Amino acid sequence: MDFELKTMSLAAARTERCDLLVLLVGEGFEPAQDALSALAALALKQGDLKTSAASMLQCYAPPTVAARRVVLLGSGKGSPAELRKAALALAPLFKAGKTLKRAAFIFAQAPAQEALGALVRSLAQASYVYTTTKGKAEPRTLARVTLGVPQAAPLRAAFDAAVGVVVGVEFAREWANRPANHATPTLLGEAARSLARQGLIRCKLHGPEQVAKLGMGAFLAVAQGSAEPLRFIELHYQGAARSEAPVVLVGKGITFDAGGISIKPAAGMDEMKFDMGGAASVLGTFRALAELKPRINVVGLIPSCENLPGGKAVKPGDVVTSMSGQTIEILNTDAEGRLVLCDALEYARRFKPAAVVDLATLTGACVIALGGVRSGLFANDEELAARLQAAGEAALDPCWRMPLDEDYGEGLKSAFADVANVAGREAGAVTAAKFLQRFVGDFPWAHLDIAGTAWKSGAAKGATGRPVGLLVHYLLGLAESAPGAQRRK
Ligand code: BES
Ligand code: MN
Ligand code: ZN
Repeated sequence: MDFELKTMSLAAARTERCDLLVLLVGEGFEPAQDALSALAALALKQGDLKTSAASMLQCYAPPTVAARRVVLLGSGKGSPAELRKAALALAPLFKAGKTLKRAAFIFAQAPAQEALGALVRSLAQASYVYTTTKGKAEPRTLARVTLGVPQAAPLRAAFDAAVGVVVGVEFAREWANRPANHATPTLLGEAARSLARQGLIRCKLHGPEQVAKLGMGAFLAVAQGSAEPLRFIELHYQGAARSEAPVVLVGKGITFDAGGISIKPAAGMDEMKFDMGGAASVLGTFRALAELKPRINVVGLIPSCENLPGGKAVKPGDVVTSMSGQTIEILNTDAEGRLVLCDALEYARRFKPAAVVDLATLTGACVIALGGVRSGLFANDEELAARLQAAGEAALDPCWRMPLDEDYGEGLKSAFADVANVAGREAGAVTAAKFLQRFVGDFPWAHLDIAGTAWKSGAAKGATGRPVGLLVHYLLGLAESAPGAQRRK
């Protein structure tokens, strides 16, 4: 889908050829001397339209307007959340309207940068359609969106960033939505390699032999129950000088989590194809980096395999040796995410990272704690936590800080190894994070538990692309606060 930002007055919007022209009408709307203004003023006066966000009036265009249809859409005070609400209210139009190819959004009042970004991202979200494994699905019809604003120049950077996020989010949604037999570790590796066709990105793929040679005994233990070969995916984005310490993103890439020998119940097990949502977000973020080219270095690490029961599968009580040298008693094979992540966190040390952020659909307990609204944020560093929290708010992809007190680690003691992979039922999201923390080197680290936010269940089942928005905002923020220029040309 193409987005375009243009300087456009309401009078000029009259001649814009499109299937749908949306006029955003917010609080304090002042009609000018043109046909669209007159229409909006009349609708407000008669009470058929309100300025509150998502209030909507669908009309046919007045004779002097070139668009086929006109929608008057309330945008409230023009906050990002209100613009998102307004954009999502249009979703039924995008889904039903086969003929809706070109849309134009005209702002009667200049939007704030964050609000324009929110509109772009939400329009993409509302019109996205998954088609890859559907025989005869109708593809997304919306092909081109023009945003008409009183003055384009001051909004250009925010617009470009939002378009970059959209491309990244859609890449993540695509891969997370694919069924496990269409998104194997091998195929995820190929997706990563496809990103490296872009000049600033390099990709290294490690198979089972290399992973064994590295000594990643915890990762290998999870993979051993499946016939599907594992992949350890390594991506490098170099936008700054080689000497600059990178941010390392680590994504859990379990392409299907049956639980292993500690098998999950049958109901809803299909949703465990989304257990590579962290990996998909790393891929999506790199896709956005390729687009936006910020001056920053980023490494992406994705340990990817299936977690299945079988004759070769790891068993409850087995003890394995992680790459760090710590031995782990695997008391529950369904707590596999932390096992693949601990070896990736150990591997991350070699990059002497400025920060490491891992993303994982890690615990059902986090879904209970925070639901689908906020991701769980754990961090050993205040500045990193603050930056991620701020990025989440700005991207409307929020997270919530969770604790890491020493006492939460108590339950991970093992009689037969240095650490057990599970503690009791209480505070399950926190004890999972405490397990990971044992493998974190001397660098700022954050863990985002996205079990509740990476996908939706029920009628609207599907991947959300979260937290690509949060991550891209965080990385762009770093690039801007770094000394020197902001972006590569
Ligand atoms: N992938 C799951 C976490 C999950 C569960 C995500 C439900 C989304 C919805 C993870 O591998 C898992 O199975 N975790 C266990 C941990 C437990 C055995 C300590 C869980 O949360 O039940
Ligand atoms: Mn599991
Ligand atoms: Zn899992």
